Amino acid sequence: FRVAVFASGQGSNFQALADAAAAGRLGGATVDLLVCDKPEAPVVKRAEAAGVDTFVFRPKEYDSREAYETEIKAELESRGIDLIVLAGYMRLITPVLVESYSGRMVNIHPSLLPAFAGKDAIGQALDYGVKLTGITVHLVDGGMDTGAVVAQQAVEITAEDSRESLEAKIHAAETKLYPEVVAAFAEGRVTVEGRKVTLVGR
Ligand code: GRF
Repeated sequence: FRVAVFASGQGSNFQALADAAAAGRLGGATVDLLVCDKPEAPVVKRAEAAGVDTFVFRPKEYDSREAYETEIKAELESRGIDLIVLAGYMRLITPVLVESYSGRMVNIHPSLLPAFAGKDAIGQALDYGVKLTGITVHLVDGGMDTGAVVAQQAVEITAEDSRESLEAKIHAAETKLYPEVVAAFAEGRVTVEGRKVTLVGR
């Protein structure tokens, strides 16, 4: 079971997935490819250090999103990728990939969706003053953070929390949950009926 991770930034989730795969904790899946739209992003170095192949591109060098996604799709198909895992990939996905990987593409978002969709969900939660936020793994459809929910976990916001401490709690939850969800896909423990997604054994 082959996984491609798409990321644009720090790559803590990428690292957790690569580490889980190396330790045999990803349901037998391998992380075969990193797709990254920012050549300078720290995640690229992490992939190199982990021995994971990279497909790094500059969106500006293409005429359209569809143009670079068509290249990415060919790369994924040539490698027989089974699941696309978005981990801080800061670009909207077009039908070129959404339609080919329907039910086989997940994203992680740092809030309990449908609350605080879109950019800076952690800042949105702090500004709103909620006492409970969390993380969501969801299938990717054509919208922004609108796909069916696969897994969620709550994270409390206390009076002592700063932006940094909340980010740390969210990242700790993400880097634990995401490998578990990817393992469930790899082991065939995920069923999708419309918006009802069930993880067997969780
Ligand atoms: C994560 O918080 C994820 O929820 C969001 O982007 C962040 C990526 O962090 N979509 P990292 O690059 O994995 O460290």
